[in-house]
Amino acid sequence: MLEPDLKTLKNQAEADISAAKDIKELEAVFRRHQKEINLLFKRFSKLPESQRGEWGRAVNLLKRFLETTVSRKKEFLRKVESRIATSDFFDPDKPGKMPEIGHLHPLTQTKREIISIFASMGFDVALGPEIEDEWHNFDALNIPKDHPARDAWNTIWLKPPAFAKASAGKQNPRLLLRTHTSPVQARYLMAHKPPVRIIAPGKVFRYEATDASHEAQFYQLEGLMVDKNVSAANFKAIIGEFLKRFFDKNLKFRLRPDFFPFTEPSFDVAMTCLACSGKGCPVCKRTGWLEVAGAGLVHPNVFTACGLDPKIWKGWAFGFGWDRLTMMKYKINDIRIFNSGDLRFLEQF
Ligand code: DAH
Repeated sequence: MLEPDLKTLKNQAEADISAAKDIKELEAVFRRHQKEINLLFKRFSKLPESQRGEWGRAVNLLKRFLETTVSRKKEFLRKVESRIATSDFFDPDKPGKMPEIGHLHPLTQTKREIISIFASMGFDVALGPEIEDEWHNFDALNIPKDHPARDAWNTIWLKPPAFAKASAGKQNPRLLLRTHTSPVQARYLMAHKPPVRIIAPGKVFRYEATDASHEAQFYQLEGLMVDKNVSAANFKAIIGEFLKRFFDKNLKFRLRPDFFPFTEPSFDVAMTCLACSGKGCPVCKRTGWLEVAGAGLVHPNVFTACGLDPKIWKGWAFGFGWDRLTMMKYKINDIRIFNSGDLRFLEQF
């Protein structure tokens, strides 16, 4: 009669001890079972004398079992808890944590794409300084001092540094934040003998109020090809190939006459507006066309300023709004969001 009762208690105690997840829980299990054992001892006096000896031994065994099993488990839990505290505890049953991995800014992604498309057509990447001097930004590009064309670029001029003031002279031209990537053309032509095929992606600055399509700091992609037999037809072919591959579709584009001091003739490049597929919408001012670049054949004065003979060398150049291209590709309607640091935007790329 008595045996199964104690056995059940023993099994229950064993199960509870093994289920205890920490020392606190284990101590609660211990107190509960200890109480039950004490009740068993109380039943002792009610038993017939012949059964008392056996009963006493059995309950004592159960008591010892409880104590030793609890203290063994306590020892184990103590080790586990101290290892967790010193953080060298590895629990193979826990689900893993996905490490958060950053990714590239959408403008960096499109820059890499653009570079790889032009690289496949034989173009190198050239870079120039963001703090530029007046000569490279304007004079070398056929925009002399006091020429009204300079007004087209709302320039952020820099205070000359102290060392430049100390030795003021012709060697210390005025500094500015470059208003376009075109000075890279001049720098490259002065340092490299043609033939030349380069693109120059970079940050540019204008002293301008910002709105959905204008930023005081934005990005351009300059292109330049110079050789003995270069024509507008080469330009059209290369730009068509670039647009097709960048937007991954055969879109229409057109060249129209325009004016830039550093090219003659000059044109603007417009492509089918992707926001409305050319039907006309607010983005393209209902024309179906979107201007994406200025371009033209390199002006002879630019060659001369860079020490090249314009009778020998011919070339074309272009300047894209690289952030505008990115906006078209991903249908982004506000240029300011690129620099906002807004993760809800960035995480979509
Ligand atoms: N630099 C011009 C701008 O900022 C864009 C441009 C037009 C670049 C014609 C060129 C070009 O290389 O040939 O507006």
